[in-house]
Amino acid sequence: MTSFSYAELDKQTIAKAYARWAPVYDLVFGAVFERGRQAAIAAAELIGGRILEVGVGTGISLPDYSRVNRICGVDISEPMLRKAQQRVAGLELTHVEGLWVMDAEHLSFPDASFDVIVAQYVITTVPNPEATLDEFARVLRPGGEIVLVSRIGAEAGLRRALERWFAPTARKLGWRTEFSWERYEHWAKHSHGMRLVERRAMPPFGHFSLIRFAKAGRMTAAQVSEQAAHAAA
Ligand SMILES: C[S@@+](CC[C@H](N)C(=O)[O-])C[C@H]1O[C@@H](n2cnc3c(N)ncnc32)[C@H](O)[C@@H]1O
Repeated sequence: MTSFSYAELDKQTIAKAYARWAPVYDLVFGAVFERGRQAAIAAAELIGGRILEVGVGTGISLPDYSRVNRICGVDISEPMLRKAQQRVAGLELTHVEGLWVMDAEHLSFPDASFDVIVAQYVITTVPNPEATLDEFARVLRPGGEIVLVSRIGAEAGLRRALERWFAPTARKLGWRTEFSWERYEHWAKHSHGMRLVERRAMPPFGHFSLIRFAKAGRMTAAQVSEQAAHAAA
């Protein structure tokens, strides 16, 4: 008999949910999350360079990055990623370096591989958000940034009660409703060298936030020359 952890079971639920969403995802979530995506891209491009988009989905944001950056995308859902591959080929998005089926919590990139990690509407879909943020911090180079757009759960009142009531259904649909701001604060405080740079409310209803964390330190000489070589290429 195959044995798997609850986290794995949860990942299977999520992957199944997004396999169902893939054909209609852009239609349902395209416009409603557009402002958040644009804000995240603008924030990522303040740093620029080699950018990893985690939970890239159908690749809806890929055409909006400047061609001077190099974008890598990963997602746990193959059907979502297939849409992204079609988009990259159809629109000739030459700034997209690659797209891979990969779990956000176990990225197969070396340490300090990216200048920026972007994850739009993803942290509330993964089973272990703090472990996933740790993994983002690992593949981020010193001085780089993590840019998230994420739904922030209510801390009290009717909205919190409704979110708790809806939580089991939300999980089957592919996300969680009850992720509080305190968990981000706690993670930043206890992570190694990550600092909150910005939190900005985002539509719809201001229930979402753009969140930026910076990693302490500076690029090594090797990283500086590698970045310069890529910029010149
Ligand atoms: C709500 S969608 C967001 C898609 C896209 N970022 C956007 O702006 O519309 C969440 C995405 O995260 C992906 N995802 C969920 N869990 C994941 C995991 N553990 N690792 C990688 N991707 C994951 C889903 O397959 C889905 O494509």
